[in-house]
Amino acid sequence: MLNDFENEKMTTKEKVLTLLENSEKKSLSGEEMAKELGVTRTSIWKAISKLREDGIKIIGTTNGGYSISGIVDNLSQEKICNYLLQLEKHSKEISFSVYDKNKIQIFKKIDSTNKECKKQLSTVSDMKQLHGTVIIAEKQTEGRGRLGRIFYSPANTGLYMSVVIVPTPEMVDTDIITAVTAVAVSRAIEFLSAELKDNVKIKWVNDLFIKNRKVCGILTEGITNLEAGSIDALIVGIGVNLFQSEEGFPEEINNIAGAVNDEKITRNKLAAAILFEMNKCFNILNVTKTMEEYKSRSYVIGKEVTVISPKEKYVGIVKDITKKGHLILNKKIGDIYCNESIELLSGEVSLRLPIVND
Ligand code: BTN
Repeated sequence: MLNDFENEKMTTKEKVLTLLENSEKKSLSGEEMAKELGVTRTSIWKAISKLREDGIKIIGTTNGGYSISGIVDNLSQEKICNYLLQLEKHSKEISFSVYDKNKIQIFKKIDSTNKECKKQLSTVSDMKQLHGTVIIAEKQTEGRGRLGRIFYSPANTGLYMSVVIVPTPEMVDTDIITAVTAVAVSRAIEFLSAELKDNVKIKWVNDLFIKNRKVCGILTEGITNLEAGSIDALIVGIGVNLFQSEEGFPEEINNIAGAVNDEKITRNKLAAAILFEMNKCFNILNVTKTMEEYKSRSYVIGKEVTVISPKEKYVGIVKDITKKGHLILNKKIGDIYCNESIELLSGEVSLRLPIVND
């Protein structure tokens, strides 16, 4: 069991909240909590009052204990760092984390977390300073998807997060950053939810599907250095639908969008697990394993798809995905599948989804 209090910088209020969250509806007495945290019962009582002032519903039970009513998942820099620290401490991999608490910024409301990263990058003389910056928002008013689409980003139901990456030689090729991130997010979801083990699939290039519904999209944008012909920085934007909002999904995405739907996955835990996995997957030494996993999670291999690539539209059966994340398609001409295969570097895949009954 991971210890939740390894981050000594957590306040008593945050520690009490963590204890109550972890107790899974069982009530905890002030005395128990005081003992566990090594503080007085008065400090516990003060922490409970502050949490209530923050709007967290804490019920006082008849046996003198406390328990939380409903799910609490306020985005918290402190909590994300604490989870990250626990994951890194228990990992066999050498920790080379670039994330530092001050680089994790939480916004209540923002136009787009990717846009905010770009704004911040435009203010610095050396983009390296912002490597590892993480912007997370409760809600986005102009959440952006690929191909100029809108990414529906209502409050409380999703994780909207962007990470600034300044490429180094130790890192996987910038061309496969999106694919590698898709693996990282899949792993993070499955790590936090035993029920979803082996259920997160990747629809080339960057959509995550669970039970035939899209639950996550990734938008990677680059800041290019035109003179040097290189990429100065990447902004990897990740949007995960954790739950469906009360209004439901907008009509245009209602037949494809879905949600992870597991109350155990809080946004703080998911953000930490994604950052942890990204850190591992971005390491060039892990690239072969990561891309093998990308292929094994494929939602499209063996299926008939339509691909709209920048050049043309193709219909065919997906035969393979290469180490570089390229799609190998056996074209269909008329009603005939030909043996000729083509290799596509980018494009938008659509396929007929099975009818899903919710
Ligand atoms: C897609 O499905 O086409 C990609 C969606 C990417 C959405 C995320 S949410 C966080 C970040 N900020 C944005 O405006 N977009 C990305």
